[in-house]
Amino acid sequence: MQLEQVRAVITGGASGLGHAVAQRLVAAGAKVALFDVNEDKGHAAAAALGASASFQRTDVTSEDGVVANVAAARDAMGGLNVVVNCAGILGAGRVLGKDGPMPLSTFSTTVMVNLVGSFNVAKAAAQLMQGNTAGDDGERGVIVNTASVAAYEGQIGQAAYSASKGGVVGMTLPMARELARFGIRVNTIAPGIFWTPMVDGMPPQVQESLSASIPFPSRLGKPEEFADTVAFILTSRYLNGETIRLDGAVRLAPK
Ligand SMILES: NC(=O)c1ccc[n+]([C@@H]2O[C@H](COP(=O)([O-])OP(=O)(O)OC[C@H]3O[C@@H](n4cnc5c(N)ncnc54)[C@H](O)[C@@H]3O)[C@@H](O)[C@H]2O)c1
Repeated sequence: MQLEQVRAVITGGASGLGHAVAQRLVAAGAKVALFDVNEDKGHAAAAALGASASFQRTDVTSEDGVVANVAAARDAMGGLNVVVNCAGILGAGRVLGKDGPMPLSTFSTTVMVNLVGSFNVAKAAAQLMQGNTAGDDGERGVIVNTASVAAYEGQIGQAAYSASKGGVVGMTLPMARELARFGIRVNTIAPGIFWTPMVDGMPPQVQESLSASIPFPSRLGKPEEFADTVAFILTSRYLNGETIRLDGAVRLAPK
């Protein structure tokens, strides 16, 4: 599809990678609806993007809330043909930490937001997208999920995060296969280490050692580079059921 035709729900759109996607799509003439739990940042982000953007406080783990807000977003944008799932949390912690075993709630909350939340928004949007008028090749919509290279080589302390992102990679192909009959494509991006508020909070020496570990270019990824990859997926109709690593060839070490 062409970018100016995009009517997108972007989860996690108040910050980091999701916000960069919103900026990229609005600049190309699209309309976007930002879903996020951070109300202050969400309202500010939508206001800065202008009339083509709106914000709805949405917890991606709420089944009823997502159904209602996806429908409201479609009505407000005059259509819905794209979802970009960027909402996520780190859920860092060792299985056996200094203060004892990881509380089960840490593990389950991480999986709930990163994996179940992505599925929750995807299925609510697909339910509406299946009724879209078919475009070229019968295309009716595109779903883009965000995994992580931690889905493949999670570090010590990333058991919960890696499990959640591995699940996102795992559901990509079966969803693409199933939704093919409706002309809805499903793809996932597995970013390496990107310069966002998630990474901004880390100590400088950690950021430097992270950068040094990236073969080429030897720096953190820019959110605009993630947004460009989303735009590439949206406009590349033959790309389906795939997870793309976007990582400067980094392979995470155990710690
Ligand atoms: N930054 C990186 O290096 C990196 C690397 C790999 C993967 N990722 C993934 O990319 C995605 C975006 O990360 P980011 O770096 O932009 O982080 P970020 O913290 O800047 O943005 C994440 C956003 O998700 C929102 N969010 C959290 N829980 C939510 C919920 N339950 N419902 C709705 N919104 C919720 C937060 O409020 C925040 O605005 C995440 O899924 C993250 O795991 C990031």
